[in-house]
Amino acid sequence: MNAIGHNTATISAGVIAVALSTFGTFATAASHATQIFETTVESSLTLPEMNATNGRFLFGSKACVVCHSVNGIGGEDAPMLDAEFMNQPMNPFDFAARMWRGAEVMVIMQREELGNVIEISGQELADITAFVHDREEQARFSITDVPEDIQELMDHLKAEELGVPHD
Ligand code: HEC
Repeated sequence: MNAIGHNTATISAGVIAVALSTFGTFATAASHATQIFETTVESSLTLPEMNATNGRFLFGSKACVVCHSVNGIGGEDAPMLDAEFMNQPMNPFDFAARMWRGAEVMVIMQREELGNVIEISGQELADITAFVHDREEQARFSITDVPEDIQELMDHLKAEELGVPHD
């Protein structure tokens, strides 16, 4: 098993080298993303499928929308997460690093406003990442994508901010 794994890695390195020498610069080689991607998987890394439509629903159901807005919908206490503010082309690791930079404040605010800290899986993070980088999918985002209990929480927090009496 090990020996096979080792062989595969060696072949992969060869494929990258061929790709680089065939296409000259790394930038050109990178445009042949499929080739590079397959190579990467062979050498035992795996990347999940990134589905922006699932991400649209997760942005609501995971409560990101309570503090962040997309397409003008959502809270105003945190930076807007519209695609125009994201790096293009998308680098998912950059997005994770941005979240990590905001982590300390986010954790405190999530405890205060949601009562707990949001948990997400790798797959959910991949889908949310696709959504925040996808202008077309963001244009479809509406309040009807947000589950009712989250909408209620948003109304509740807004009322609290405005000092309006509420339950
Ligand atoms: C309770 C409020 C709250 C919730 C819920 C929340 N965030 Fe945040 N988030 C913040 C705040 C506040 C900041 C800014 C932190 C800072 O400036 O240090 C932030 C920062 C970020 C940043 C960095 C923004 C930038 O421009 O650098 C990203 C990315 C992010 N959040 C993504 C998410 C995602 C994805 C979710 C849902 C899974 C989420 N957040 C849920 C409050 C929240």
